[in-house]
Amino acid sequence: MPDIAMPPSLTVIRHPLVQHKLTLLRQKQTSTGEFRRLAREISLLMAYELTRDLPLESLAIETPLEPMQAPILSGKKLCIVSILRAGDGILEGMLDLVPSARVGHIGLYRDPDTLVPVEYYLKLPEDVADRLVIVVDPMLATGHSAAAALTRLKEAGAEQLRFACLLAAPEGVEVLTGAHPEVPVFTCSVDRELDEHAYIRPGLGDAGDRLYGTK
Ligand code: URA
Repeated sequence: MPDIAMPPSLTVIRHPLVQHKLTLLRQKQTSTGEFRRLAREISLLMAYELTRDLPLESLAIETPLEPMQAPILSGKKLCIVSILRAGDGILEGMLDLVPSARVGHIGLYRDPDTLVPVEYYLKLPEDVADRLVIVVDPMLATGHSAAAALTRLKEAGAEQLRFACLLAAPEGVEVLTGAHPEVPVFTCSVDRELDEHAYIRPGLGDAGDRLYGTK
C-alpha cells in the first residue's frame, strides 16, 4: 500500500481469499481462462462486501416444521453498471451472487486531443434512480472514466452509488473520491503508481486484453 492518506470513502478488501486470488490474477503466466475465472470469483467476494449493509425486512414463511418470521432483502434491489468493456469481467461474478440485479452498461472513450472521456454508449434500467447502483471497472487508473460514469449516473437520477474495482492507483483514488466524495469506493489493492502510459504499477497489465485474450 503506498504511503499516502486514504480517503474515508475508500475500502480495501483484505480478505485472505481475495488477496490470494488477486496474486494469482496478477501473475503474467495466468491464462485467459484462469484470469476470467479468478476475476469472477474475486468479484463475487467483493459483492459480498459491497452489499453488507443492504436493508432487510421480515417475511412470514413456513418451514416444513412451523411458521416463522424470516429476514429478506427489502425494497428495490441492485443495479450493476459495467464500464465497457473490462467491467463485464466483474459483472459476471457479481451476478453470480445477486442474480436478480438489473444491469446497465456505459461506454466511454478518451478523446485523443482533450483526453476528456466521451460517452459512446449508455443503457440503464428505467428505474435506476430507485436502486442501489454499483459501478464496476477492474482498473481505477486515472480515475477520469470512473468519475465521468458516476456523473452520468447522477444525471440519470441515481442517488445511491458505489464503485468497485479490482485494483486502484493512488492517482485514480484521488480523482474519483475528489469528484464524488460521498460515493463509497471498494478495491482489493491500491498499487504503487500510474506509469506514463496510464498503466497501474505493479498492476496486472491490460485487464480487458487479459479477460478476452485480445493480445
Ligand atoms: N487499464 C488496464 O487495463 N490496466 C491498467 O493498468 C490501467 C488501466
